[in-house]
Amino acid sequence: MDVLQFKELFSQEYGGNNKEPVHCFFSPGRVNLIGEHIDYNGGYVFPAALSLGIYGAIRFRSDQLITLKSTNALPVIAVDLKQPILYKAEDGWANYPKGVIKHLLVDGHLLKGCDILLSGNLPDGAGLSSSAALLVLVTFMLRQAGGEKDIDRVQLAKFCQKVENQFMGVNCGIMDQFSVAMGRRETAILLNCDTLHYKYTPFALEEYSLVIMNTNKKRELAESKYNERRGECEQVLEIIKGHCQVTSLCQVSLADIEAYVKDDILLRRARHVISENNRVLLAVELLEKRDIIGFAKLMTQSHMSLKNDYEVTGLELDSIVENALKIPQCIGARMTGAGFGGCAIALVVTSKLEQFKTAVAQGYQKRTGLIPDFYAASIVDGVQSIEC
Ligand code: GLA
Repeated sequence: MDVLQFKELFSQEYGGNNKEPVHCFFSPGRVNLIGEHIDYNGGYVFPAALSLGIYGAIRFRSDQLITLKSTNALPVIAVDLKQPILYKAEDGWANYPKGVIKHLLVDGHLLKGCDILLSGNLPDGAGLSSSAALLVLVTFMLRQAGGEKDIDRVQLAKFCQKVENQFMGVNCGIMDQFSVAMGRRETAILLNCDTLHYKYTPFALEEYSLVIMNTNKKRELAESKYNERRGECEQVLEIIKGHCQVTSLCQVSLADIEAYVKDDILLRRARHVISENNRVLLAVELLEKRDIIGFAKLMTQSHMSLKNDYEVTGLELDSIVENALKIPQCIGARMTGAGFGGCAIALVVTSKLEQFKTAVAQGYQKRTGLIPDFYAASIVDGVQSIEC
């Protein structure tokens, strides 16, 4: 669907005669290139905003109702700004915008009634941050269409993380919201999740392409396992704090981990975190020197660490990555996002993309019985208003 079709759909859904203008927006998904399960440990991540994402259209009304509709999911919800806004399981996807509305009101924003339509092409639960894209989109739409200029995008990301943590009860880090709010065309973001200092690095791949491979395995246990990993990292930090002055796990050296952490599982979790954080910095250095092969090798090492030490991959992600790496023209591959299903990424010689997809799909289906999807997305700007 293009923007004009989207605007037409808005008129069909909400009627076309209203004198108020319709404002349109686009919010990207994100792919993390390297630096997984690092944001909540205070280290470096290296994500980018994707051309797959969510369109949003908004038109103000004369009353105090906010209507929320999506072309991707039910239900349709009307939020009355004069009533308390509560999380309700039966409201499904609409809890995200409800959380945004509630927290904007709590923070003192004046909101007006409006009709909102959303439509996305980001696969749900695939590790490409559809929830961050939705939260950042709705916040940005309500504020910008409401007349706010120069929205501070770092604050926007922090606000959306707060909504996800507090209203949705998801204990995520800052990486996803930051990428969606701060993305920049053809560049990836090196983000220090402790200080929120960041730097843009051109993501120029020369004769290679970034391929996103969806295992189509839904991330069922993702949330509980995610919290379990966070808990394990917190345990390690507590142990280390008994010996060294540190505030986050990424400040700890491997030598200190090996000296003080006796439990094998905790040791492996911490080893992933420390080694992954180092890999991010090295990867960015190599990319800046245009050593794409070196960068890709670190991607593969990242996957192995997530598989063996952090244990967040599973049959589907391992199988798709193994099948990708069997193809000589694939120079590196890894899972992306939280893991336990969802997407992986690969760097592949552009002229061999079709052969690559066919061979990976065959091998993967044979092993798992699932048919994968492949996306050729480009790297785009963060959330923005668009002509419609
Ligand atoms: C999810 C979370 C992020 C991050 C990644 C793992 O996407 O939302 O904050 O922790 O997992 O890197």
